[in-house]
Amino acid sequence: MENILVIGANGKTGRIVSKILRDSNKYTTYAMIRNEVQQNYFENQGIKTRIGDLEKDFSDAFKGMDKVIFAAGSGGSTGDEKTIAVDQKGAIRAIELAKAHKLQKFVMLSSMGTDDPSQMKGLELYLRAKKAADDFLRESQMPYTIVQPGALTDDKGADKVEIAQKLNKSGKISREDVAYALVLSLNLETAKNKSFELLTGNQDLEKALKTF
Ligand SMILES: NC(=O)c1ccc[n+]([C@@H]2O[C@H](COP(=O)([O-])OP(=O)(O)OC[C@H]3O[C@@H](n4cnc5c(N)ncnc54)[C@H](OP(=O)(O)O)[C@@H]3O)[C@@H](O)[C@H]2O)c1
Repeated sequence: MENILVIGANGKTGRIVSKILRDSNKYTTYAMIRNEVQQNYFENQGIKTRIGDLEKDFSDAFKGMDKVIFAAGSGGSTGDEKTIAVDQKGAIRAIELAKAHKLQKFVMLSSMGTDDPSQMKGLELYLRAKKAADDFLRESQMPYTIVQPGALTDDKGADKVEIAQKLNKSGKISREDVAYALVLSLNLETAKNKSFELLTGNQDLEKALKTF
């Protein structure tokens, strides 16, 4: 069994990721949460927790872990300061800690548009922060996968996607499909050291990830 630290586990995507991992027979899930009151939600479902806040010292959360999925984010209702603190500095610190603890894989939930933030009016600062973390990961020599989805929805997963390094269009995808892509990326050789954009499409998710 591999020990997987899910950062941002209490978020909409993070909760789905944590359940997929729990239901697999390959992984032990450790949900990183920043507030003890969130502990019951996970422990009631048989999911272990680690307390850690990306804006503080969260190094203890990495002890004994094999791989990490980063699904945290400051969200749209906080200011620029939080975006830099969480999406950029927090993510970069998580990569440094993963490397220091000799983890085997870092799977990053990023976003479409990070390649050229100037093209997305109103989202430039957020996308520049995400890009800084993505670039840091690419250069970290840590095995990685960077998943760059379009707009996230709460729809049920379609299990059908469109995937490419660059899709050259905008669109949507459900958090459930993104969560499956993040989990599959933990071990797929075809996803190793790759970044890819992801939208709802016509190809089976797992097949698409194995062949793109
Ligand atoms: N929304 C979109 O359309 C879209 C599109 C493409 C990519 N993305 C990316 O996908 C990510 C996940 O989306 P989502 O909707 O699932 O996010 P979400 O529901 O807002 O969840 C974000 C999680 O990050 C956690 N977090 C925030 N600050 C933290 C800190 N200082 N320390 C530890 N954890 C912290 C939150 O913790 P609490 O639960 O304690 O608040 C929450 O659990 C986004 O952050 C974004 O980067 C989003």
